[in-house]
Amino acid sequence: MEFGKMLHGGDYNPEQWLDRPDILDEDIRLMKQAHINCVTLGVFSWSVLERQEGEFCFDWLEEMIDRLYREGICTILATPTGGMPHWLTEKYPEVRQVQAEGRQNLPGKRHNFCYTSPKMRDLTGRIDRSLAQMSLRHEGIVMWHISNEMGGNFSDSACHCGQCQRAFREWLKEKYKTIEELNRAWWTVFWSHVYTDWEQIHSPVPHGENLVHGLNLDWRRFVTCQMTEFLKWEIASVREYSSLPVTTNFMYFFKPLDYDKMQRELDVVSWDSYPFWHKVKDETDMAVKAAACHSMMRSMKKKPFMLMESTPSVVNWRVNNPVKRPGMHMLSSMQAVAHGSATVQYFQWRKGRGSFEKFHGAVLDHKNDGNTRTFRDVADVGGRLAKMEGRILKTCNRPEIALIFDWENWWAVEDAAGPRLDLDYKKTFLQHYRAFWEAGLDVDIISMERELEGYRMVVAPLNYLYRKGYAERVERYVKEGGIYITTYWSGIVDDNDLCFTGEHPLEKVLGICQEEIDAPGEGFVNSITFLEKLYHTGDLCEIIHCKGARTVSVYMKEFYAGAPAVTENRYGDGRAYYLAAEFEQDFLNDFYREMTQEARIENPLGAKLPYGVTTALRKGEEDLIFVQNFNDCKVMVKTPGRFEEADSKIILDGEVWLEPFECKILTEI
Ligand code: GLA
Ligand code: ZN
Repeated sequence: MEFGKMLHGGDYNPEQWLDRPDILDEDIRLMKQAHINCVTLGVFSWSVLERQEGEFCFDWLEEMIDRLYREGICTILATPTGGMPHWLTEKYPEVRQVQAEGRQNLPGKRHNFCYTSPKMRDLTGRIDRSLAQMSLRHEGIVMWHISNEMGGNFSDSACHCGQCQRAFREWLKEKYKTIEELNRAWWTVFWSHVYTDWEQIHSPVPHGENLVHGLNLDWRRFVTCQMTEFLKWEIASVREYSSLPVTTNFMYFFKPLDYDKMQRELDVVSWDSYPFWHKVKDETDMAVKAAACHSMMRSMKKKPFMLMESTPSVVNWRVNNPVKRPGMHMLSSMQAVAHGSATVQYFQWRKGRGSFEKFHGAVLDHKNDGNTRTFRDVADVGGRLAKMEGRILKTCNRPEIALIFDWENWWAVEDAAGPRLDLDYKKTFLQHYRAFWEAGLDVDIISMERELEGYRMVVAPLNYLYRKGYAERVERYVKEGGIYITTYWSGIVDDNDLCFTGEHPLEKVLGICQEEIDAPGEGFVNSITFLEKLYHTGDLCEIIHCKGARTVSVYMKEFYAGAPAVTENRYGDGRAYYLAAEFEQDFLNDFYREMTQEARIENPLGAKLPYGVTTALRKGEEDLIFVQNFNDCKVMVKTPGRFEEADSKIILDGEVWLEPFECKILTEI
């Protein structure tokens, strides 16, 4: 992605104001004041772009694109398929999604079409091709934004209609070839579920089959695959005329769709970030979540990503919607940049007057012009980006540590009955991520299918399902000198969700053997000591014995007192660690500090950071260090080295002071 500048802009819906030329004039004047250099047009504009089937009307859009371009503002053009016009759903009811319960949606809302429907493909293909053809006449367009937040339709992302059922069966036939093979993979002899005909297979639903884990897992894979096919179809449609880069906007950790699969079709990864700032006084939890999403989006292509949407002030869809406290808008925008974003974009430029999002934050409110705190905050971000873009754009994050986060594992581990029903993969993952965040270490977040080579350390929490070839790659990685850390309840099933029998696939690498896993009740808290400090265990304690590994810590209570709880195994030139229990955050922080110190990996300030402060490093000819303070109070970081503030050129010698919610960009001198 080379726009030559950092994009600062957002979703803009002039079609809601076509009868108010005064508003449209005002928009352009204020965009320039706010350092807006890019807008996203066309998201949800289908009904005004194609008023009746085949009746295209792009005049307003084309005029707007040219006008903006003359003012120095470029356009990211969306395909409008996020919301369907009424003529479409009325004429072709088969495009309306069917819910798991079998009920077909009535028209309305958004993101709720059947992604399998050939009619829907016809219709999207047609409008997308027309838009692409039109795009050739307008230099202002720089990129395609395919649809919008695919699958994010307020309920189930999947469609269960007849067309989807048939496509699912075809997909299964292609995968398993014979019904016998499918029965083997799904272990269907259990409870007499053997299929004798492909037609007997149905998507998992609440009132039908939903306890065959192989079926559930394949259905989720199929949903991602169908959605990706739809995405590919839209991409191919615009590609018939246009060679501009394409993206689609992802959402946080979105369980229904395997983004790591979908992103392969995109030129650039982009996502919409809406952290719940000021939910509680301590912002750290939220900062960690947002940081992890940013890191993950960057890691998908190991390239800068786009912050496609964020709110300039509030959202409108939480029970309570706090306004951003002074400093938070800049900090939260810079946090994205710190983790590799090349843009700061908003939903939305101007609040509409009616319907569901009329109170959603925007750069411009219903009343007032630019004389608001929100507008000034936005203009400040734009000003800072414009000043820094030449330096920031030459850099990207290149962490030495990777954490494994994998959708297939997510689906399988939370679908399994046992050892607890409330297993929360994302939560567990974030506890491990947090330890690095608190230490000021940015990490890559990668799926099990990614290369491990090049990382000094790879961490795989709650890695229940092993994809094909994964164990072999981990083995090679450790043998060649890598440090691999994994936890309880890892390496339990293969990619059909069938339990491994005999040896654990990484038994030699880990040097341990799993025996039992305890999900103790209240009052059964166990503990360990690590480097002479006492820590409590959490909800799961695995009982293991060593087969070559060295015991680092042992359980202190229960009948398994004395059994290993933390182990280390040397394998080839590397080392593998096993954390047999869930532990409190404190342990993870201390354990990973020890691990990283041993490996001589340190944060870019080489400093111990105060609580709520983190750093991220963008490397290039010049390394930029983003020091972020998520505390609502002033803090100081004591640093061994000297640094220069990139914006102001002020030299900081041994002490970096940060205002409440401040992000400083530093270079080492
Ligand atoms: C999503 C959508 C936007 C808007 C915002 C509101 O990110 O893409 O159209 O609805 O949510 O937060
Ligand atoms: Zn369908």
